[in-house]
Amino acid sequence: MTQLSGFHRDRIRSVLSASLLMPVITIKHADDAVPLCQALFDGGIRVMEITLRTEHGLKAIKSVREALPEAWVGAGTVTSLAQYRQAEAAGAQFIVTPGLTEALLEFSLTSEAPLLPGVSTASELLLGYGLGYREFKFFPAEVAGGTRALKALNGPFPDVTFCPTGGIRRETARDYLALSNVQTVGGSWLTPDEVVATKDWARITEIAAGSLSDIS
Ligand code: 3PG
Repeated sequence: MTQLSGFHRDRIRSVLSASLLMPVITIKHADDAVPLCQALFDGGIRVMEITLRTEHGLKAIKSVREALPEAWVGAGTVTSLAQYRQAEAAGAQFIVTPGLTEALLEFSLTSEAPLLPGVSTASELLLGYGLGYREFKFFPAEVAGGTRALKALNGPFPDVTFCPTGGIRRETARDYLALSNVQTVGGSWLTPDEVVATKDWARITEIAAGSLSDIS
């Protein structure tokens, strides 16, 4: 059976090691994408997941890639092969899925953009593990057992690294990052709706820099 290539693993490792925090960004107004991501970048964020939860997601990925060539820009909430292909075509450098299917895993083995597949159980993890995956998103982190679940998963899977997301906040990010099997923590707290709605980009930069300083 085909296994995950070294290129794909190296790419995902580079993404995860580039930033302790990965904002999960949902663009509600197309014009927000570049200034919002620029504000995060100015606050020290180097990896961004732009979700496909709105009609603006794909265009936002394209425009942020052009505006911020030094950032890693990925597509999140990818749930189908069609979206995977569209995200790659838009320039996504990595793909994040909330869960996994065999079809998504197999497609990703030969795709341009590597996959960070979502899991919340050992059984799901094993599907990816058998294909060579060692980096996973853990979602929805807080309701799936939080740091206690991640500690438990480290027993049978000591060589797996997680990016937990889902319910994590600025105050709890540090607890996750203290775990040996967590390299990056993701979440939407870095881009609060009420701040984005007022286009207070300076505040976004403050939140990003403050969150990074809290965990350093
Ligand atoms: C995700 O897709 O990773 C989550 O929706 C982020 O969860 P949060 O909004 O609770 O941070």
